[in-house]
Amino acid sequence: MRKHLLTVLCCFVIIGAASAEIPSNYPKGPHGATLEKVQDQVFDTLQTTLEIPAGVDPAVWNAMIPEGNETTPERVALGRKLYFDVRLSEDGTVSCATCHDVTRGFSDQIPTSEGIRKQFGKRNAPTNLNASLLHSMFWDGRSPSLDHQAMQPIINPIEMGMENDAEKIAGKIKDDPEYQKMFKAAYGREVNYPDMGLALGAFERTLNFFDSPFRRYLAGDEDAISADAKAGWVLFNGRGRCMTCHTFSPSNPHGSDSKFHNIGIAAKKQNFEELAKTALRLLEEDNSEERLDELAIGTDLSELGRFMVSKEKTDIGAFRTPTLTNIGITGPYMHDGSLTTLWDVVDHYNKGGEPNLYLDGGIEPLNLTNKEVDQLVEFLFSLTDVRFADQNAKIYAEQKEAASKARENRDETLAARKVLTFEFYHKQHQQKGDAK
Ligand code: HEC
Ligand code: HEC
Repeated sequence: MRKHLLTVLCCFVIIGAASAEIPSNYPKGPHGATLEKVQDQVFDTLQTTLEIPAGVDPAVWNAMIPEGNETTPERVALGRKLYFDVRLSEDGTVSCATCHDVTRGFSDQIPTSEGIRKQFGKRNAPTNLNASLLHSMFWDGRSPSLDHQAMQPIINPIEMGMENDAEKIAGKIKDDPEYQKMFKAAYGREVNYPDMGLALGAFERTLNFFDSPFRRYLAGDEDAISADAKAGWVLFNGRGRCMTCHTFSPSNPHGSDSKFHNIGIAAKKQNFEELAKTALRLLEEDNSEERLDELAIGTDLSELGRFMVSKEKTDIGAFRTPTLTNIGITGPYMHDGSLTTLWDVVDHYNKGGEPNLYLDGGIEPLNLTNKEVDQLVEFLFSLTDVRFADQNAKIYAEQKEAASKARENRDETLAARKVLTFEFYHKQHQQKGDAK
């Protein structure tokens, strides 16, 4: 009995300590994110460093650091302070960390993000973890670097809503003596808007979370992942064909080729041609970076993806391949947050995506069995850094339950290639017509 009680007590203590990583227990701010002050404390427990992350080619890493913005402790400290500062938003309620919440995988774990005055954009917030090696920023790659990207949300009308006026933006914090000291120490200049971008970029370059069970398995620890996850890795490289876009290599250790693909998520209910015409007309009127950012985040043109940047027809509905590291804790998934679980994601690929004129050639039905789908998902959950292990396990259990319910009504016809995709949709179309 005594021993039993001790075990119960031990469990309680362990769960109590581990739950420090599970967001539902934290006090929330006005937009549902964990309070910035608390996030800042949790951040300390993650023990980030300025080192080149293990498993990344040092030559590649160094090449990605912009000249003049080398990662120094002063710059990182300044970036960290800015990251959690709601004063950078028009109404003082939104910081970077509102949508890239430390306790939610540096994302917000909702389909699309909420900015000032409870406005929602059209896009899902990608994680800020392991973004340093991506060759472009945003789902459509419209920004070339972290340093450049960080200036955009501050002036986006839905996100942080500041007027595009460098003086006014700096004015928000320039009377703060702590900031005055920190800007001087970091860049030798007064408080100013472009240096905010540089400091935020420097800070984000320390958000390296590659230490996953999968990495440990690659490094030789056979027991780091389950037999199912190992089978999932084989499928990932083989019949799943995932690695054609989600590369894992010393230069792309995050699982993205940094290229753009239409995998049949976009514009499910909309007409791509009409949208493209509207986009070209609007961009002819105003082709500024600011306008592009507004249209991409705030309107239905979001669905055009890379086309908005390149204006190439073949880029319609194409989005940059997202990173897969820490994927267990950064759902819901895709540029519009339309897929809730990793089972939904693999089902999407298994049936060959949603057909559309611009679908990438690599997307074809995969004919994976339920067991194989499970194995792929098991693998994906092994990509989360061990520092988030508790949250990863909790979300795994929640998703698994949701997925097993969804599975009862799943139609296997497409995945199993019993008909070809166009025949399936043609038949559906006809049936709809008959019913009328
Ligand atoms: C209101 C929510 C919101 C706020 C506030 C916000 N972001 Fe984001 N962030 C997003 C969304 C949504 C996207 C994707 C937008 C797109 O692709 O068009 C994004 C994209 C990014 C990306 C690109 C990641 C990738 O994989 O391409 C980075 C980096 C980033 N944000 C950092 C920041 C920083 C730094 C701040 C603060 C200055 C910030 N964000 C403020 C929601 C937000
Ligand atoms: C042709 C390139 C390509 C292939 C092949 C591919 N993906 Fe993707 N993947 C993408 C792109 C592009 C997106 C984002 C699409 C969007 O949002 O519209 C994506 C999104 C995802 C996401 C969601 C990530 C997030 O943060 O929201 C997951 C998970 C994923 N893919 C896993 C897989 C798996 C597993 C396979 C193999 C069964 C696979 N992918 C095959 C290109 C690809």
